[in-house]
Amino acid sequence: MKPKVLINYKTDNFPDDVADKLRPLAEVVYATGDYPEQLRDATVLLASGERVNEDFLHKAPKLRLVSRFGVGYDTVDVEACTRHGVYVCHTPDVLSGAVADLTWALILGWMRRIPEADKYAREEWGKKQKGFPFGWDMPGKTLGFLGLGRIGVEAAKRGKGFGVKMIYYDVVRRQDIEAQYGITYVPFEELLRTSDIISVHVPLLPTTRGILSTEQFQMMKPTALVVNTSRGPVIDQKALTEALKSKKIAGAALDVFEVEPTPPDEELLRLGNVVLAPHMASATWETRRKMAERCAESIKAYLEGKRPPFTVPEQKNVTF
Ligand code: 8YV
Repeated sequence: MKPKVLINYKTDNFPDDVADKLRPLAEVVYATGDYPEQLRDATVLLASGERVNEDFLHKAPKLRLVSRFGVGYDTVDVEACTRHGVYVCHTPDVLSGAVADLTWALILGWMRRIPEADKYAREEWGKKQKGFPFGWDMPGKTLGFLGLGRIGVEAAKRGKGFGVKMIYYDVVRRQDIEAQYGITYVPFEELLRTSDIISVHVPLLPTTRGILSTEQFQMMKPTALVVNTSRGPVIDQKALTEALKSKKIAGAALDVFEVEPTPPDEELLRLGNVVLAPHMASATWETRRKMAERCAESIKAYLEGKRPPFTVPEQKNVTF
């Protein structure tokens, strides 16, 4: 009997022809509903955003590989997986460019008021009753990156053409990148105090949860824009909402939220000084295909009896 690969792809796009590459080695099943029954005899799970923890692993006694459809794996308890002899793989690199592009789309969308402009062009312009409010130039602005990993670096690469001054804070100093892209390391507080735009590119860890909260918003310029394409909980959303309402900062451009999908009664959805997207930074046809292929590479290698590539760093030296 072939091992079972369970694909919980939801809207993430796991093309059939990519699944076909696994079919000679496994029975490939697309998950339906909450899928606990389908999990019982699955050897491999392609995980979307579901929480894979101790409880989950008990429902999946045969599971040997969790392939996260994404680079972030904060939804997966790697320690529990390691204890259960389960590899955890993810999809680094292939989505960095797409996320960096959306970061810039959000920055420019907010700076040039694109959502308001769209509405104005459709509903107001022809009436000739009022003009459209201006936006702001990029040259001369200070763009601060909170986190300069793979995605932060891609975003900084794109910043070179905009005439912005780029600074960053990270727990890891990146001297190679500093020289290459003209970006300067500054302490965390200096980043908060001097940036016109703060773009967040850190993974969600116990140390980064709520890294931007009331105290940090108070240090920012009243004209500051906060951009987040990483994970919602790195920003204390209530504190952000208060900072926006009380004009401690000027705006936010967000692709990620504390709770996703964002509940319709979330106050942030009703604020005017925000530009929002539904966690779609990697959602291009090309990138989602590359992510699927990267997942399939790890799964195929495992099914062929090899150590899967693209295991998460915590399992770098682990072989089951
Ligand atoms: C995906 C992501 O939207 O890569 C990540 O960590 O958050 C996104 O690329 C998400 O993983 C889809 O499941």
